[in-house]
Amino acid sequence: MKPVLDYLAQNDARFVADLCTYARFPSVSAQSQHAADLHAAAQWLADRALGLGLSTTVHATAGNPIIVAKTPNVPGAPTYLVYGHYDVQPPEPFELWKSPPFEPRIVGRQVFARGISDNKGQHLAHLNTVEAYLKTGTPLPCNLTFLIEGEEEVGSTQLYEFLPKHKAELACDAVVISDNGIPSLLHPALTYALRGIVALEVQIDGPNRDLHSGLFGGTVENPAMALCQLLARLRDDKGRILVPGLYDDVRKLSAYERKQIAALPFSAEQYRKLTGSRQLFGEAGFTAEEQRTARPTLEINGLTSGYQGQGSKTIIPSWARAKLTIRLVPDQKPRAVAAAVVKQLKKLCPPTVKLTITQGHGGEPYLVSPSGPLAQAALRAMSAGFGHPALIMREGGSIPIVSAFKKHLKADTLLLGMALPDDNAHSPNEKFDLDAYAGGMRMAAHLWQELPRAAK
Ligand code: BES
Ligand code: ZN
Repeated sequence: MKPVLDYLAQNDARFVADLCTYARFPSVSAQSQHAADLHAAAQWLADRALGLGLSTTVHATAGNPIIVAKTPNVPGAPTYLVYGHYDVQPPEPFELWKSPPFEPRIVGRQVFARGISDNKGQHLAHLNTVEAYLKTGTPLPCNLTFLIEGEEEVGSTQLYEFLPKHKAELACDAVVISDNGIPSLLHPALTYALRGIVALEVQIDGPNRDLHSGLFGGTVENPAMALCQLLARLRDDKGRILVPGLYDDVRKLSAYERKQIAALPFSAEQYRKLTGSRQLFGEAGFTAEEQRTARPTLEINGLTSGYQGQGSKTIIPSWARAKLTIRLVPDQKPRAVAAAVVKQLKKLCPPTVKLTITQGHGGEPYLVSPSGPLAQAALRAMSAGFGHPALIMREGGSIPIVSAFKKHLKADTLLLGMALPDDNAHSPNEKFDLDAYAGGMRMAAHLWQELPRAAK
């Protein structure tokens, strides 16, 4: 193992340079003009895997390519699937970036670029560790299959189709994902739960064109107002969702879990500052960490209507539209929650306007026991890699494909994050911490020793 760790330390600068090269691809999956950039990013990563001697396939799909890369076969050894995504969130608004989002900028131990933490840096760290094993001739006590997709940020449509068709190629004993976070470099943590998600678009159509608000105001319903009133009735002012049946399947937090969550290094004041909010907000009876990881929530992600240019324009807009997502917790089912929300929207919508609801992506919540032998082995690897005892935590974000891994591959997922709370994932000025990058590589080095041992 020492040669692997030495190799990682000696190649630190090149790993940073590689990360910057990778982060330069504007692989934004939500925007069709970036299709070629997504292909180029996939090809770059595949070439890197191929160059290390991994048997690598770039699978074309109806959307963005899916990369499968396998380490040289070790007969009889367990196999782990390392999942990641090379697509990134849209970088807009550009004006809030201190440097262009696809021109990585290094400041001290931080590198700023869109997608560098979510998720390029994290899965590249895993590939770097494989390089260290192979280049130092250190036997890998397991087989690794890298599965890197390009549509995670838009719901993994292609991967959902790919997975059942490539079960044999992807067969594994467990899935390892680093696409999540840890409380701090001093507090690495294994994530044992993720929230699920349901996405909806709601459109309200009113008059057949924008109308003069003086001539018509008071007689014709205003779609922007109707939408605001409709959405406002979905939630109370503390964030509790007012949709009948929505909480029916929510599993209660046990006293044990609440104690574990309370023991995490969490300062409400620091958290408030990190978000730049005046005051924290949230459902009564739960701590902030519980609210964001173990309770369902409903958010408006985008809201569009009327005139938003310079000056004023006195109109009743002809339409209004909102993008919503609901985060789910065990044992909520995306289908049932979507149906309940749609039903409530239809019930509350006034007859003066036309309501159209389009259902978007969805994903189930995930929960796995943190006390099994593989989770315990992963905790040891995290502690060794980051040099501090590892904790356990839930997360509020979603990686919808995780429950599909369980369904099709019958494999549990170990979520071993490298992102920090201030990495600005999905926000302007996203960054990745180079100490987290290095810690993550060391963690992976230990992981491939620890997991096979625990499986015996
Ligand atoms: N890496 C995140 C998810 C994440 C972040 C999980 C932090 C746990 C901790 C992932 O790239 C992501 O953003 N997923 C989307 C999924 C959605 C678009 C279906 C999300 O959570 O919004
Ligand atoms: Zn993301």
